[in-house]
Parts: sequence; C-alpha cells; structure tokens
Amino acid sequence: MSTNLATQLREGTKKAHTMAENVGFVKCFLKGVVEKNSYRKLVANLYFVYSAMEEEMERHRQHPVLSKLYFPQLNRQKSLEQDLHYYYGANWREQVAPSAAGKDYVQRIRDVSASEPELLVAHCYTRYLGDLSGGQILKKIAQRAMNLSEGEGTAFYEFKDIADEKAFKVEYRQALDELPIDDATAERIVDEANAAFGMNMNLFNELEGNLIKAIGQMLFNTLTRRRSGGSTELATAE
Ligand code: HEM
Repeated sequence: MSTNLATQLREGTKKAHTMAENVGFVKCFLKGVVEKNSYRKLVANLYFVYSAMEEEMERHRQHPVLSKLYFPQLNRQKSLEQDLHYYYGANWREQVAPSAAGKDYVQRIRDVSASEPELLVAHCYTRYLGDLSGGQILKKIAQRAMNLSEGEGTAFYEFKDIADEKAFKVEYRQALDELPIDDATAERIVDEANAAFGMNMNLFNELEGNLIKAIGQMLFNTLTRRRSGGSTELATAE
C-alpha cells in the first residue's frame, strides 16, 4: 500500500506555511532582529515539545506505521539541552518551564499519541522537515544577530548524524509515501499537520510582546547612546 502523503502534506499545509512565515516574530527573526531573552524562551518551549514528541515516537517504535518513520538521527532533545545550557547556564533545568502555548502543544502530542498515534506523523513532519529545510540559514541569522561564536547556542540547527540533509529529505518523503495507511488516515494526518503549524504560530505569537518591548528598548538605547553637550553649556553667552 502506498499514498502520496508527502505531496498531500506539502500541498495541504502551504497556506499554513505562508501564515507561519508572516508572523511578526518570524519576520523579525529573518531580518536579523533577534533578542536573546525572547529567543531562549522559544528554545525552552521547543525543548518541551521535542522531548514529548521524541518520547512518544520511542514509545511507539514498534507501531506498524510509526516504526516506518522512526529516525532517531533526527532527534533534537539533546541538542536543545545543550542550547539551554548555553542560554541559561548550568542550572537551566530550574529556570525553564513551558509557556501556555507550549503546554497546549505538548498536551496535544500526548493526546494524539494515546488516542490515534498515527497522527504523530504530522507532528514529526511539521517540525523535522522544516528544520531540515531552513537550518543553516536560520543558524547564520541567529549567530549574527546574537553575536554567537561557532558552537554557541546553535546545536539545534546541527544534524550531526545526518550527512546530507537534502538526500535525507528525499528519503523521509519516500518513507511518508510508503506508510501503510488508508486515504482517510492520510487526510487526518494533513489536518493534524495544519494544527501543528497553528501551535507553532501560537508559540511565536506569545513572544511578540516580549520582542516589541525589547525592540523599543534597543531603539531607545540607540537614540540616547551618545551624551550630547548641553545647549547652554556649549553656547557662548552674548
Ligand atoms: C522563518 C520562516 C520560514 C522560512 C523562510 C521557511 C522556508 C522554507 C523553505 C525554503 C522550505 C523548503 C521548501 C522546499 O523543499 O522546496 C521549507 C519547507 C518546510 N517548512 Fe519552512 N520556513 C519557515 C518557517 C517554517 C515554520 C515555522 C514551520 C513549522 C513549524 C515550517 C515547516 C516547514 C515544512 C514542514 C517544510 C517541508 C515542506 C514540504 O516539502 O513538505 N517552516 N520552509
């Protein structure tokens, strides 16, 4: 049995992808406007999301459908831990907690895993194919914007166990097409992928207020950076 699930997912989430690219936080990121405190909060949420997703995929590694999409070389939990260590310090575990949107996203992954585990395919697709697509560009942006040296805070973007990300994407899409599912399940997976895009947008939207405040502060600092001479001090009295 085979479907064209990879194409269905790509076509069926196009609008959601465009919407995600147009979220304020994402647009700012692409323009190099990244602020460490907002960024590390996103990394913390992603840590909870990937930990849940990877734990559930591990739980179902013998599942007739999910076993065909079991690629632990994609796992991001460890790399997110490294990045959190960088951004928060050695006691990062005591400092991070999922936000409201982060909790909803994690809960959705747990619920789907318990009630209809095939839908985890949608969650893996939405995150991993996105990560494999934009990784190196986003890494460079983050490095430049936050003044990071190589190897600092960007482990998330590095797939150390994947030699050729482009080739791996081809393999992953083929695996999607070969999943033993019927058309109705494929449709539900596409719906769930759209929901996953929505949950990612919620994560970004939550950080917008934070970022706007930080941009305001940055602008204020720029405008007031130089101490200018006082008008009456400089002027010679006539
Ligand atoms: C920062 C804004 C973003 C940019 C510039 C961007 C860019 C891209 C690009 C260039 C591709 C490759 C398309 C191809 O293979 O031909 C892609 C694919 C993808 N992106 Fe994004 N992306 C962004 C945000 C996101 C977000 C927020 C998500 C979801 C969390 C996401 C999920 C995906 C997925 C799932 C694919 C694979 C599509 C497919 O071929 O089925 N992207 N993206």
